[in-house]
Amino acid sequence: MSRHYQPYLKEVLIDEESLQARIAQLGAAISEDYAGCRDLILICVLKGGVMFLADLTRHIDVPHEIDFMAVSSYGKGARQSSKTIRIDMDLSANLSGKHVLIVEDIIDSGHTLDFVLPMLSARAPASLRLCTLLNKQSRREVEIPVDYIGFEIEDRFVFGYGLDLDEKFRNLPFIGVVDLDALRENPL
Ligand code: IMP
Ligand code: MG
Repeated sequence: MSRHYQPYLKEVLIDEESLQARIAQLGAAISEDYAGCRDLILICVLKGGVMFLADLTRHIDVPHEIDFMAVSSYGKGARQSSKTIRIDMDLSANLSGKHVLIVEDIIDSGHTLDFVLPMLSARAPASLRLCTLLNKQSRREVEIPVDYIGFEIEDRFVFGYGLDLDEKFRNLPFIGVVDLDALRENPL
């Protein structure tokens, strides 16, 4: 892979092998917890959750649907979630009577899910749970009940594996810490 991301990478926080190993474990845990379930649906929160969803779904051996919704909480250049969340694209599936598992890239302040969870639970799912690859617990401003967590991370701005740096580098196979000084000097 070309190295355009290199100047912005302070360090690799979670390498590809560790990510994949943990995702396999999460898939196994989910498969066990939902064993026998006939109407499981994974909901990917775009865009950040796309890599995680794609890998996670292949480790879940309970038959399930996948669907996508897009929400945005802040624009290019901002490093903090605003409290105003916007639905850019809604689900196509009907959730009524289904066992819903939300698949997120990262939970930071919690404002995004604080908006999404009530909205989905109003659609009468049989159950509603949450799986996030990364969790920044120390940044939480609103309490969010999380059922599956890939990795607990410190308060650092990360990118790669679905997470963007000003909309770029979602394709990296690892999670890296952003060098914010380099980004300031050389904006994308
Ligand atoms: P929250 O609403 O503050 O919980 O933020 C959730 C959203 O902010 C995530 O779904 C990400 O899209 C984005 N986000 C939070 N922290 C980071 C980060 O370190 N890197 C990239 N995106 C982030
Ligand atoms: Mg997200």
